[in-house]
Amino acid sequence: MLNISFTKDGFYQNNLIVVLVNSQLKLGEIALDLDQKFNQIITHALKDDGSFKGKLMESKVLTVISEGELKRIAIVGVGDETEIKQHQLQELGGKIYSVARDEKIKTAAILVEKSLGQHKIPEVMSSIGGGALLASYKFDKYLTKKEDNSDLRIQHIYVIGDGAEEAGQMFKEKKSEVDGVFFSRDLVSEVPNVLYPGSYAEKVAEELEGLDVDIEVLGEREMRALGMGALLGVGQGSAKESKMVIMRYNGAESETKPICFVGKGVTFDTGGISLKPSAGMDEMKYDMGGSAAVAGAVKALASRGAKANIVGIIGLVENMPGSNAQRPGDVVTTMSGQTVEVLNTDAEGRLVLCDCMTYLQKNFQPECVIDLATLTGAIVVSLANTYGGLFSNDDDLSNKLVSSSLKSNEKLWRMPLHKDYDDMIKSSVADVANIGGRGAGSSTAAHFIQRFVDEGIKWAHLDIAGMAWEKKSTNPICPKGAVGFGVRLLNQFVKDHYE
Ligand code: BES
Ligand code: MN
Ligand code: ZN
Repeated sequence: MLNISFTKDGFYQNNLIVVLVNSQLKLGEIALDLDQKFNQIITHALKDDGSFKGKLMESKVLTVISEGELKRIAIVGVGDETEIKQHQLQELGGKIYSVARDEKIKTAAILVEKSLGQHKIPEVMSSIGGGALLASYKFDKYLTKKEDNSDLRIQHIYVIGDGAEEAGQMFKEKKSEVDGVFFSRDLVSEVPNVLYPGSYAEKVAEELEGLDVDIEVLGEREMRALGMGALLGVGQGSAKESKMVIMRYNGAESETKPICFVGKGVTFDTGGISLKPSAGMDEMKYDMGGSAAVAGAVKALASRGAKANIVGIIGLVENMPGSNAQRPGDVVTTMSGQTVEVLNTDAEGRLVLCDCMTYLQKNFQPECVIDLATLTGAIVVSLANTYGGLFSNDDDLSNKLVSSSLKSNEKLWRMPLHKDYDDMIKSSVADVANIGGRGAGSSTAAHFIQRFVDEGIKWAHLDIAGMAWEKKSTNPICPKGAVGFGVRLLNQFVKDHYE
């Protein structure tokens, strides 16, 4: 793992020094000093062809001629820094990481001379450090020839500035969040023959060991006794036993109602008998992204010692066709007692979530419930990979989530619930059908879940089908692949509104 340290000076020992430059292109004192030492290399670069404008995320690498360790100076733009947001500082850190990585050097120093906008030096340092770390994530456990076995890889980044000690303190909390995100990314990246409900439950227990989290794992026998016919129906075509994991963290007084998270954990979604087309089916290993967000968020919250009570419930199943698989047309009885006509076995996520919801509400008194699921392809049609879809029965909860989504830059857009959509999931043989016919596929899915939300419970559903996996690397703090979407959002949400 990449090392991040915060120090006051000592940057000449590094192979690369990063200097931040705003759109006025004025250098700070230390940068000017550096410039002097190396024949005005920076001033020349800024003046020469005028191509470097100091725009946010712009970068230019300069080669220095020296006998020492220092090989390069990079200038990186911060734009008009007066308006810069915290998440942009983090993204800047991600950008700097990739600049350093591409130079094939071992160590880099980032010089932070001034506060940026409303962000004081230690906060700038810690955010940049956090972003660099997030960007450095790799899932290479199955590569027998690792790319980074080489000596020429970035191993250490020093963030240098006044208030390094305070920056280090602030970074501890950041690091908890990054650990949560990495755990979530590890789960989502893990391949589907290795990650199945049983191994998933074990991994969660292992990873949260040592933190103040109580874990309970239900197997099929327990879930059958509880009447979870919908969840069990999805898993019945698989050779792997379905599981439910309940995580509890109490960081507030025991009377404080818990904030509850529910996650869809379909470790592989073939569609079941309503089989999906083969092209791209491998992607359905990330159909457990909602549950990974919940597990990652619990890890982040517990390891930073959040002053809140949290319950996380994840429903883990594998959706397979087979001689014992459920059929289109089957009717199952949920833990709530409501019956469901399974018209399409590929609309399985909602069948998993509904039993998780009932278990949650029977065993806890939620302050609010937020479920996360890679639930519908329709949400990707609506919002692509820019926003997760937010559905809620409560304006206040919805506004809280949107505001935290803007801060974390894990963006949400509110989508509609309406009686008309609820009417679309009527069934003639059971209480409800698991699909709604043509149109508004994300809203009918949300309504299905809402059927299992008790009177008076504040609930939000986040459809993150378009957000869990990054196909192109356009996000500076996230390499291609698993995003860990939702961990930073939920951590921010708890921090902003409940602590
Ligand atoms: N896991 C899928 C949704 C999905 C699609 C996630 C693309 C990530 C990327 C879900 O279980 C599913 O198959 N949904 C169906 C529902 C339909 C049968 C009503 C869909 O969206 O096509
Ligand atoms: Mn499906
Ligand atoms: Zn699915």
